[in-house]
Amino acid sequence: MTDDWTAYWDRREAMEGKLWQAQCDFFVDRVRREIPLGPDDILLDIGCGRGYTAAALAPGLRAAHGADTSLRALEEARRRCAGRPGLTFHHLAPDAYLDIHRLPVRDVSVIFCVSVVQYYKNIGEVRTLIANAKKIAAPGCRMLLADLLVDYNQCLDVAGVLLGGMESGTFCAKLGEVFSGKHRLYGRTRAEHPVLTMRRAEFEAVCAAENTRLRFIRRNLTGNRFRTHALIDILPVVDAC
Ligand SMILES: C[S@@+](CC[C@H](N)C(=O)[O-])C[C@H]1O[C@@H](n2cnc3c(N)ncnc32)[C@H](O)[C@@H]1O
Repeated sequence: MTDDWTAYWDRREAMEGKLWQAQCDFFVDRVRREIPLGPDDILLDIGCGRGYTAAALAPGLRAAHGADTSLRALEEARRRCAGRPGLTFHHLAPDAYLDIHRLPVRDVSVIFCVSVVQYYKNIGEVRTLIANAKKIAAPGCRMLLADLLVDYNQCLDVAGVLLGGMESGTFCAKLGEVFSGKHRLYGRTRAEHPVLTMRRAEFEAVCAAENTRLRFIRRNLTGNRFRTHALIDILPVVDAC
């Protein structure tokens, strides 16, 4: 039995590699054109990895928070961003990673969760994440679930990764990863812990059940044009007192 996904992402092999910065630069450039961000915004980046996205966006925001289950990723993010104002990184316990409402983060106006949901166990967890997002959301909060494996086709997905590499000038680095130990470990983990794929109708039903408004973003945000990106309007929970 291999590690589960949270353990995989805490391993050195998973966290090393030259592509993190380049992929986040690509995402940040694209997402800025889709989701206007300004000095009143508070961002929470769930599954922030080594923190490149939160760090790139923080200077234009009121505050930016990154959260991740991987202590290894957080260590790197905190080391690189030490002393940067308005930028904080938080640990999500691997056995309670949906509990974003327990983080010391409130009035969040933008939530990103990029290339993370595929490591969840089932679609019920996606619903719980949205429900918990409501507990920390400011009015008008937008939640971006990006890189979703909706109506997934593995051959198209691999093609998407390589085409995206050409588009972003990272083709050789991506090909290198395909032949690396990191990729073999990923494959072994995936064989025992399948990534979460969803039918579009199932995903829409979850968003509707949580009473959110959903729209799909057509622009390629993450370098794989065959992945799905969903922008959800989150209505905060009003405390009944
Ligand atoms: C593919 S990386 C994406 C990192 C970053 N969002 C990006 O786009 O570069 C997946 C990240 O999600 C984190 N992760 C995996 N499972 C998670 C979970 N259940 N909850 C929160 N973070 C998780 C991993 O530790 C890793 O940093």
